Amino acid sequence: MKIRLLLLTLIGALVVAPFSFGADEPETELETKMDKIGSAFRTLRRQISDPAKNQDSLAKLAVIRENAQASAKLEPAKTAEVPAAQQQKFVADFQAKMKEFIGLVDKVIAAVKANNNEEATKLVGVMADTQKKAHGDFQKKKKKSS
Ligand code: HEM
Repeated sequence: MKIRLLLLTLIGALVVAPFSFGADEPETELETKMDKIGSAFRTLRRQISDPAKNQDSLAKLAVIRENAQASAKLEPAKTAEVPAAQQQKFVADFQAKMKEFIGLVDKVIAAVKANNNEEATKLVGVMADTQKKAHGDFQKKKKKSS
């Protein structure tokens, strides 16, 4: 009886799996970079006020910086939805915003290195605001705006 239940669960999972995996495919290169920024940022936000975590916070900031720099060379998927005549400006605006964001990351790195966790916490709040605004401007609608 238990085995039959297990088998049914397994078959159910096999039937459903291709659909649930398919939901997020195909990932753009930018999405892959953003996912890495996303998981590093989740940890960073939790621990940025804690000086004992500064070493790890610097590691997370390095991941964010590296992936933001790679992102600045890419184009958002939304570019295809913008009228052809405006696409070049759209991509240039995106890349400029990403460079501005990297400047902000550098300020957080400097604050953490100076053990100024109060300042670093404030700046991480600005990072979150920047993310929200940038996603509103550059991310395709109907996607989760995480
Ligand atoms: C703390 C800062 C940020 C975090 C945590 C973050 C996180 C994310 C996450 C988790 C996604 C979804 C990826 C997926 O669908 O798998 C995403 C998508 C996206 N993000 Fe960010 N992001 C940040 C900052 C920014 C900034 C500053 C920009 C623009 C200058 C930006 C532009 C985008 C775009 C355009 C997408 C859609 C991907 C595509 O078009 O291919 N993000 N981001």
